[in-house]
Amino acid sequence: MKSSPFHIDSSGTIPEDIIAMEESHAIWIEKYRPRVLEDIIGQQEIIERLRSYVAKREMPHLLFTGNAGTGKTTAAVALAREFFGEDWQMNFRELNASDERGIDVVRNQIKQFARTSPFGASTFKILFLDEADALTTDAQSALRRTMETYAQTCRFILSCNYSAKIIDPIQSRCAIYRFRPLGRHAVAEMVQRISADQNLTVSEEVIDAIFYVAQGDMRKAINALQGAAILGREISPPMIFAITATARPEEIDDLIDLSIAGNFLGAGSALQALLHDRGIAPQELIGQLYRAIIKRDLSETIKVRLIDALGETDFRLSEGAGSDIQMQSLIAKFVMYCGNNSR
Ligand SMILES: Nc1ncnc2c1ncn2[C@@H]1O[C@H](COP(=O)(O)OP(=O)(O)OP(=O)(O)O)[C@@H](O)[C@H]1O
Ligand SMILES: [Mg+2]
Repeated sequence: MKSSPFHIDSSGTIPEDIIAMEESHAIWIEKYRPRVLEDIIGQQEIIERLRSYVAKREMPHLLFTGNAGTGKTTAAVALAREFFGEDWQMNFRELNASDERGIDVVRNQIKQFARTSPFGASTFKILFLDEADALTTDAQSALRRTMETYAQTCRFILSCNYSAKIIDPIQSRCAIYRFRPLGRHAVAEMVQRISADQNLTVSEEVIDAIFYVAQGDMRKAINALQGAAILGREISPPMIFAITATARPEEIDDLIDLSIAGNFLGAGSALQALLHDRGIAPQELIGQLYRAIIKRDLSETIKVRLIDALGETDFRLSEGAGSDIQMQSLIAKFVMYCGNNSR
């Protein structure tokens, strides 16, 4: 079934000009979404276990949990394709729990699908419920009963970002799969696959930059690459940082260095440049400062204070406080806390 490098459907009936149009406008996260389990990157243990279900022609209810862009939806769709083959769409349904939060969606749509018998030779269907953590507790209780009643004809795959929001009785009825944020190796592999197909030149530094901005989210990584590729075939780190409105790690380090050195005016103008000239969102900067401070060689006392200040500013911004003054006040605190004893 494997054909390199990707398994892109082509029935042969689509007119050439439409294919050409799709080629140039296709969104890469869809174009390069793995079609088979084998092509999913960086979640080996999960993929192996899912493939063993296909081999045995049997599976329990599943709960996929993990951060955005780590392959949950991709794995559910690929699993259904492998179980059901060509007619997979007859036996697979995807619903998004956050579209219609509440009990009705469970009562009606899910039941409707779950109770009708499977198509073809299959003994069950698969219902994929995305963002299951958006369901209210009542809706989850109703879902739990539906899962039991129709277990013969329908297997559920629930997907969520936070498994703690799923009620225990559902968790105990599912095999739980935790999708990990994707590491540098996984991001590199995807970037190289796409670059080879699109004739892009990417260096190790570009992969570092994509890994830095993506933070384990493959969707972000692919979107960053596609955004940069509009600017030119030879991708550079500044293109990646510009397209994602992210500060370069060195710029963040400079800002911290200036604060540690007690240079409030210098740090303030570096901050202004990032916020206003480069258009970086204040909360994005806070996230980046946090990641830099964690890694940095500073005394624990100072780290604790700086992170406390970051948390306070983040909260104030989320409550709608003016961002310029809050960010300047954050830098003022950095200067104050670091004083002369930065180590
Ligand atoms: N492990 C992976 N291997 C290869 N590509 C991946 C992987 N994870 C994500 N992707 C890519 O990122 C895109 C988004 O992935 P997917 O829709 O599976 O994320 P998700 O985990 O369901 O995220 P969300 O929680 O936001 O629904 C896919 O189209 C695919 O191209
Ligand atoms: Mg998803």
